[in-house]
Amino acid sequence: MSTQKTAIVTGAARGIGAAVAKRLADDGLAVAVLDLDADACADTVKAITDKGGKALAVGANVADEASVQAAVEKVANELGAPTVVVNNAGITRDNLLFKMTVDDWDAVMAVHLRGAFNVTKAAQKYMVDAGWGRVVNLSSTSALGNRGQVNYSAAKAGMQGFTKTLAIELGKFGVTANAIAPGFIETEMTAATAERIGVPFEDFKKASAAQIPVNRVGVPEDIAHTASFFISEGAGFVSGQVVYVAGGPKD
Ligand SMILES: NC(=O)c1ccc[n+]([C@@H]2O[C@H](COP(=O)([O-])OP(=O)(O)OC[C@H]3O[C@@H](n4cnc5c(N)ncnc54)[C@H](O)[C@@H]3O)[C@@H](O)[C@H]2O)c1
Repeated sequence: MSTQKTAIVTGAARGIGAAVAKRLADDGLAVAVLDLDADACADTVKAITDKGGKALAVGANVADEASVQAAVEKVANELGAPTVVVNNAGITRDNLLFKMTVDDWDAVMAVHLRGAFNVTKAAQKYMVDAGWGRVVNLSSTSALGNRGQVNYSAAKAGMQGFTKTLAIELGKFGVTANAIAPGFIETEMTAATAERIGVPFEDFKKASAAQIPVNRVGVPEDIAHTASFFISEGAGFVSGQVVYVAGGPKD
C-alpha cells in the first residue's frame, strides 16, 4: 500500500495556489489541483508531473456543496484519501461600503467562507479515518482591516475563527488546522487591484515594497514555504495558529 499522502489545493490553477500545489508535490504528496475550470489547471499539473510528481486536475466551484462533494470523492478514488486540505480559492469584489452591493458581499463570503467550509467538511472524514490530517486556510492581512474591503476583510477574519474552531474540534483525531495571512503577494489578484485603481503594477509593487520592512513584495513561493511547514509531520503540535507572512510584523 502506498504511503503517499494526498492533498487538495483549491484555487490552484494559478498564483499562490499553484505555488502551494507544486511545493506540496515537491514534498512528496499527490496533489489534487482544484479550480473552477479543470482545463485551467493543466499548467500546474504539468509542472508537477514533469518533475515526476503525481497530480490530478479537478474542476469544481468551492462555493457549491454538490460540486465539492463530487470533487472530493473523485480525488479519493483517483488519487487517494485526501488528508491535507489547503483552502486557498479566493476572489475580491472591492468597493467602499456605500457602493458595495449585496452581491459583492455574498460572492466573497461564498467563495472564502462557504468554500472553505464545504471542502473541509467533505475531506474531514478521510482525515478522521486516517487519524491524521492537516488543514491550511488562507487568511490575509486584510483581516485586520483594509479600506474598500469590508466583505473581504470580514471573510478573512472569519477564516481565522474557522481555523481555530477546526483545531479544537479535530485535534483529537490527529488533525491540525492553521491559517496563513499573507501581506502583498505578487499575483493576478494584486495585478487586478492595481488595474482597478489605475496604477501601473510595477509602481504599485514599488510603493507597497517601500512600506514593507524586508523591502520587497511577497511571491507565491513565500506562502508555499509556510504551507509546507504547516502540513509537515513535525508540525503536529502547531495548531489553531495564524501566521502573518507579510515581510514584517502585523497584529
Ligand atoms: N495575492 C495577495 O496579495 C494575497 C494576500 C492575502 C491573501 N491572499 C489570498 O490567497 C489566496 C490566493 O490568492 P491569489 O493572489 O493567488 O489569487 P488569484 O486570483 O491569482 O487566484 C485565485 C484562484 O482561485 C480560483 N477560484 C476563485 N473562485 C473559485 C471557486 N469558487 N472555486 C474554485 N476556485 C476558485 C481562481 O480561478 C484562481 O485560479 C486567496 O484566498 C486570496 O484571498 C492573497
